[in-house]
Amino acid sequence: MKKNIRVKDLENYNKNLKVLVIGGSGQVGTEIKNQKHKLNLNFSFPSSKALNLTNQASIKNFLNNDNFDYIINLGAFTDVNGAEKKKDITKRVNHTGVDILSKEADTKNIKLIHISTDYVFGKTLNAPFYPGDKKAPINFYGLTKSEGEDAVLTNHKSGIIIRFSSVFSQYGTNFVKSMIKLLLTNRRVRVVSDQKISLTFAQDFSRNIVQIIDLYKKNINTNERIFHFCSPGFSTWYLVAKIIFTELETVLQKSLDSELIPITLSEWKSDAKRSIDTRLYTDFDYYLKNNIKFSSWEDSVRLVVRKALPQILDEI
Ligand SMILES: NC(=O)c1ccc[n+]([C@@H]2O[C@H](COP(=O)([O-])OP(=O)(O)OC[C@H]3O[C@@H](n4cnc5c(N)ncnc54)[C@H](OP(=O)(O)O)[C@@H]3O)[C@@H](O)[C@H]2O)c1
Repeated sequence: MKKNIRVKDLENYNKNLKVLVIGGSGQVGTEIKNQKHKLNLNFSFPSSKALNLTNQASIKNFLNNDNFDYIINLGAFTDVNGAEKKKDITKRVNHTGVDILSKEADTKNIKLIHISTDYVFGKTLNAPFYPGDKKAPINFYGLTKSEGEDAVLTNHKSGIIIRFSSVFSQYGTNFVKSMIKLLLTNRRVRVVSDQKISLTFAQDFSRNIVQIIDLYKKNINTNERIFHFCSPGFSTWYLVAKIIFTELETVLQKSLDSELIPITLSEWKSDAKRSIDTRLYTDFDYYLKNNIKFSSWEDSVRLVVRKALPQILDEI
């Protein structure tokens, strides 16, 4: 009973909050769109044309046209390999754009929740990394995301950074969806087995947004400005692939013709350097105290397999 009153109060308190989501067409943004009717917040999801992070005038005009209370910035150049070749645009979105955005948001007194990545780490091997650990990115994407973080912390009085790692959902492009396709169309699928990873289920973030806003308010006068947001436990891509494999066999009620072949990270060819270990430490006790709950990554991977499979079967 007591709990119901608290949730209701929170809903009423939040219902007029105007929340601008940048990057709403991406995998995390699409999850937020899907949850928005449950969240009782006043959302705006401009396209990257209407609010283009590479264009100062576009950012200024968009923020001038409304009185936003919060910005959730998911907008990013996220193609890690592509970033090595497209350095100019990567920097303009992930660093310069965030620099402008954070200055504008601060001037207009708009709270800023900026999303970042485990790739700000990687050069040093002391994972799991804590929010305050020294950053050392190993590739250009990670470098620009790290510079974006620094811009937020410098330019904005209260802006917070939330770091994700290896995001997956039924939407957009991600490992789980790619692996489903590969397992259904190839006989031998090579997967890296020695790289240690944390995983973020996009829905864990989208369904906790009201609580995250509440956490922001609580922390406004503290030094707590960087948070890690990943599912409990760590994994490897090979372990994730094995779960996808067994779930596909369960759902399709047949044995797959494909075989998973574990390989080492050094055998995996990619344009961007990858770290063997960028696991992020997430403080689950702290989140639980703030009513933020995570699902197990294993259950979430199985759920995504079931949700994404019909569309993938149509495509292949
Ligand atoms: N995916 C991962 O595994 C992962 C891991 C760790 C952290 N993250 C971080 O999590 C956040 C969300 O990731 P995601 O996987 O949802 O990304 P995503 O699916 O790649 O979506 C990226 C979003 O950014 C928008 N965007 C790109 N350039 C823009 C610009 N110039 N101006 C405004 N918006 C622009 C895209 O819009 P268009 O569709 O119109 O281009 C899209 O909505 C990002 O900050 C990313 O760095 C992701």
